[in-house]
Amino acid sequence: MGKPSFSDFVSIRDLTKKQMSEVLERAEGMIPYASGEKRTRALEGRILGTLFYEPSTRTRLSFESAMLRLGGAVMGFSTPMGTSIEKGENLSDTIRVTESYADILVIRHPLEGAARLAADMSSKPVVNAGDGAGQHPTQTILDLFTMLQAKETLEGLNVVILGDLKFGRTVHSLSEALALFGANLTFVAPPSLEMPREVIADIESKGVKPHYSSSLGDAVREADILYVTRIQKERFADAAEYAKVAGTYRIDSRLLSQGKSTLSVMHPLPRISEISPDVDSTPHSLYFRQAANGIPVRMAILSMLLGVDP
Ligand code: NCD
Repeated sequence: MGKPSFSDFVSIRDLTKKQMSEVLERAEGMIPYASGEKRTRALEGRILGTLFYEPSTRTRLSFESAMLRLGGAVMGFSTPMGTSIEKGENLSDTIRVTESYADILVIRHPLEGAARLAADMSSKPVVNAGDGAGQHPTQTILDLFTMLQAKETLEGLNVVILGDLKFGRTVHSLSEALALFGANLTFVAPPSLEMPREVIADIESKGVKPHYSSSLGDAVREADILYVTRIQKERFADAAEYAKVAGTYRIDSRLLSQGKSTLSVMHPLPRISEISPDVDSTPHSLYFRQAANGIPVRMAILSMLLGVDP
């Protein structure tokens, strides 16, 4: 496979169903390389630049691991602290400089649209690792990959998405992708944290009418996948507003016993208190496998954007 028809990875809206399927297929082939069972030097001599303006554990480390597993090298920062951003350097200047130090850039930034700006500025491929409350498209591909491992098809799958749907970037990109694949979507959110209108409009334009439920119990009974999210504390302008919604939902094995025996629980992580640890050892828990899938999926994305076969 040569170069993909996309040159950056900024928003799930930029991708067709076929392109997503190509990434998923390539990720499948990456599994033996991701685990270290097989070796490849496909990206030898290539450098990944990681520009993380916001905290990250899984996304940054799995991108690093993915690049290293492909034989490439990594440089970057995990916080703006200690960089010239502290001196007041703007994003475009940072991109202009770092693109000359690397072959591909991964950026996480608190502002929606920051990755798009970086992609427009840079002649090198840019991957969005989360832009504020906007999008998180690589997380979406690994979420789809995990769902397909567990359920085989996305079409007609009942996916309940719970939590902070307003600020949660993972669920914006995920809902849009699931709509393309014909899944049934049910949203459960505390009032004030509902799915933004523009995301709903995008989903509806893809022919899917989401359901809305105020009863978690009812939603769980019908679900094949329960996708849980953290309340995005850092996006609240007012601490009192956060306090009103903090801890308002919690998944435990008693609640899950009301659902299908095959119900799978996913979460992009980190979790705070929204999934009880007693779920971890049940067959419902898929979130740690989901996190591990970040490696083959990001290996697929890096190698496709760099136009190299493993
Ligand atoms: C998510 C994010 O950063 O949007 N984390 C991740 O990348 N796995 C979810 C979150 O922080 O709640």
